[in-house]
Amino acid sequence: MKIVVAFESMFGNTHHVADAIADGLAPYGSVTTVNVNDPISLGAASSADLLVLGGPTHVHGMSRPASRNEASSVARGSEGKLTLEPRAPGIGVRDWMDDLDTVPAQFAAFDTRVDVARIISGSAADRIEHTLARRGSHALVEPGSFLVSKGTVLEEGELDRARAWGVGIGEAIGLLQHA
Ligand SMILES: Cc1cc2nc3c(=O)[nH]c(=O)nc-3n(C[C@H](O)[C@H](O)[C@H](O)COP(=O)(O)O)c2cc1C
Repeated sequence: MKIVVAFESMFGNTHHVADAIADGLAPYGSVTTVNVNDPISLGAASSADLLVLGGPTHVHGMSRPASRNEASSVARGSEGKLTLEPRAPGIGVRDWMDDLDTVPAQFAAFDTRVDVARIISGSAADRIEHTLARRGSHALVEPGSFLVSKGTVLEEGELDRARAWGVGIGEAIGLLQHA
């Protein structure tokens, strides 16, 4: 089972979550973790059996060029509290999915978002799920959301939860293979 965990991240939180998910998934297949701004990401995802795709929630959904530029300004004005990922602002999951010619048969969507009620925060994962399902891919599990504080720090326990979510995907693969 070839698994690609692809992520977009401005300040690093979604990157850390992606790494934790990949950790949880490691016993279940051959796992590659890639930034959507890495040139190898599209080819890797196109040939995968399972795509796990996530990004930060911006303006209730997936990021756009303007929201990524705003993230860059926020980092510049944060007096060093927030640092931009090396490949940020770059492209986001929305543009990346547009460029993805072949969508793997199975997927799982995740996001990071602020720790408030979902109806207020919105969710990038819901939008990712909608887009990939519309393209004929099958959601293996419910979307996963991992929470940051208003100061954009991952809440305690969220990396453990991300690892466990990865294990849950692995178990769903197992069920699928024995069906
Ligand atoms: C321009 C902008 C808009 C945002 N809009 C939302 C939002 O609508 N809902 C939300 O929960 N978080 C929002 N956030 C917070 C992001 O979700 C948070 O920065 C992100 O989860 C951090 O992930 P990263 O470190 O991988 O970039 C926004 C952040 C930025 C910079």
